[in-house]
Amino acid sequence: MSTRIAVIYYSSTGHVHALAEAVAQGAEATGAEVRLRRVAELAPAEAIASQDAWQAHHDATRETVTEASIDDLDWADGYALGTPTRFGNPTSQLKQFIDQAGPLWAQGKLADKAATSFTSAQNSQGGLESTILAVNNVFYHWGAIIVAPGYTDERLFAAGGNPYGTSFASGQGNPVSEEALTAARIQGERLGTFAARIATREDEDAVPADQAAAYTGA
Ligand SMILES: Cc1cc2nc3c(=O)[nH]c(=O)nc-3n(C[C@H](O)[C@H](O)[C@H](O)COP(=O)(O)O)c2cc1C
Repeated sequence: MSTRIAVIYYSSTGHVHALAEAVAQGAEATGAEVRLRRVAELAPAEAIASQDAWQAHHDATRETVTEASIDDLDWADGYALGTPTRFGNPTSQLKQFIDQAGPLWAQGKLADKAATSFTSAQNSQGGLESTILAVNNVFYHWGAIIVAPGYTDERLFAAGGNPYGTSFASGQGNPVSEEALTAARIQGERLGTFAARIATREDEDAVPADQAAAYTGA
């Protein structure tokens, strides 16, 4: 049985997409079976078309990257979530995906899994850490085991030394640096490693049945 890892992300202009690919490569290097998935785009066509980089990335990934399904989280033994910063927070696109996880949560199917998150913002102090911490708040509710990069590898310092998760400051649309891609691969390796250690893949309910029955989420 190989460990199953889901790398699920949103990206408008490609930076988080590049990080997601690197996280997936890192997890694959541990022997894990990996699903790289983009969440659904919610923005209107006019908004996407208003930025060349957004339209180009949208067109490039629409057919080549499978859209994420909430079942990917059920399938996985460990998951990584990636999102650009939006005013210091995750994007509504990723949040919309997360908000569909109520039924899985109610069945305890998100718990006891390794989890980690990564991001990109324009500015190095523009909310990278707050975005990662906001995603990680969700992981607490899911009962996930957060796998932080910490300072576990010297190469992380060259990428800015963010112990919370890989983050890249894109400035005026600079391509993701090799240092950040290396950090993302390290993060993916750690996710794959720890998911393998804690994977149980049991379907027992973690939430009492009466509480699950009372849940009215989507
Ligand atoms: C509505 C909106 C809000 C943003 N908020 C921030 C912000 O708070 N701080 C920041 O540094 N960058 C901010 N950005 C910039 C993006 O986070 C940044 O360009 C990121 O690298 C894009 O990642 P992507 O290429 O994967 O879409 C914002 C962009 C948009 C469109």
